[in-house]
Amino acid sequence: MIDLRSDTATRPTAGMRRAIAEALVGDEQKREDPSVNALQERVAALLGHEAAIFVPTATMANQIALKLHSRPGDVLIAEDTAHVVIYEYGGAAAHAGLMTLGLAGDRGRLSSEQIRAAAEPSSKGADQQATVLALENTHNSSGGRVWPLGELEDVVATTRELGLAVHLDGARLLNASTALRVAPAEISGRFDTVTICLSKGLGCPLGALLAGSQELMERAWREKHLFGGAMRQAGVVAAAGLYALDHHLELLADDHARARRLAEALAEAGLPIDLDQVETNFVQLDAVKLGLTRSDALARLQQAGVGLSGTIHPSVMRAVTHLDVGDDDIERAAELIPQALRPRVPA
Ligand SMILES: Cc1ncc(COP(=O)(O)O)c(C=O)c1O
Repeated sequence: MIDLRSDTATRPTAGMRRAIAEALVGDEQKREDPSVNALQERVAALLGHEAAIFVPTATMANQIALKLHSRPGDVLIAEDTAHVVIYEYGGAAAHAGLMTLGLAGDRGRLSSEQIRAAAEPSSKGADQQATVLALENTHNSSGGRVWPLGELEDVVATTRELGLAVHLDGARLLNASTALRVAPAEISGRFDTVTICLSKGLGCPLGALLAGSQELMERAWREKHLFGGAMRQAGVVAAAGLYALDHHLELLADDHARARRLAEALAEAGLPIDLDQVETNFVQLDAVKLGLTRSDALARLQQAGVGLSGTIHPSVMRAVTHLDVGDDDIERAAELIPQALRPRVPA
C-alpha cells in the first residue's frame, strides 16, 4: 500500500537504525545520557531558546507547556481545531485545570483582534483570566497551513502586550520553516515555549522536545517526572533525532514538492483540489464534492492500494507525504486515486 495517511507512518531508515544501534547512552533521569543531552542542546539552539527537554511525545510537550503557563482555573486561548483543543483528550483541563476558549480560525490562524477580545477579563475579575495562548504552525486541521511570519509576529506581540504567555505547538514547525525558507528560530524564538516532534516529517520512531528559557525548562523537568516521562537510556531514541537533524531535515522540501506534484496531478485529473491549501506536505480532498461518503471513498482507495485518512472535517480526507513515499509512489498514487474515486456505472 502507498501509505499517505500520515507523516507518522515512517519506519527508521537503515542509517537511522545504525545510529540507534551505536548510540551512546546513560541514565536520562539523572541527566547523564550523552545523546539526550546533545539533542537537547542542539534543538534549543535550532529553536532559538536557552534550553530544551526531551519527552516521548509532542502531546506531553504541549501539556507540560500549558501547565508551566497557568494555574487551575485559568483560561487557555487556542484556535478551535488546534491539536491541543481537539486531539489531546481534554489534557489542558485534566492536567493544568485550564478552561479552553476555542476561537474560529482562518486557515488555523487567529487575529490580534480576536485575541484581544478573548483576553478581556471576565466579570468575575481575577477568578478566571486568560493566561496562555497556544498557536499551531504548521496547522494540522487546516491541511498543514503555514502562518505568514509578519502575521505571527503581530499576534505574538499583541498577546505579550496583554500579559499572556505564548506557546507554539510546532509539532511540524520544521515544515513551516522549510516552506518559508527561514531558520526555525525565526519562527519559534518569539514564543515562551515551543514543541517540536521528531516522529513526523523527521522520520523518527518517537520523541519530541519542548524548548524555552532555562528557568522554564527546569520547571519542565519536574513536570516531565510528574507525567511519567522521565526515562532511562533514552539515548537510543535521541540518537535517531540527531541523525534526523543531520540527514532528514533537508528532505522536508522534497515532501512538500511531492505533495504539490500529487495535488496538481489530481487537479488535472478533474478532482476538486484546492491548490492554495497545499503549502507543505498535506493534500486535502472533500469526498462530498465527489458525491461519495468519506468512508466509502477511503474504502475504495484502500482497495486500490492507497491509504488516505480522515480529518476533523466530516467529509474531508487527506494525503500526507513523508520520508517513506518516493516520486514513483506519487506518480502511482496520482493514477490510482482518480481511478478509485471515479463514479461507478451500476452493473
Ligand atoms: C499539531 C500537532 N501537535 C501535536 C501532535 C501530537 O504528537 P504526538 O503523537 O507525538 O503526541 C500532533 C500529532 O499529530 C500534531 O499534529
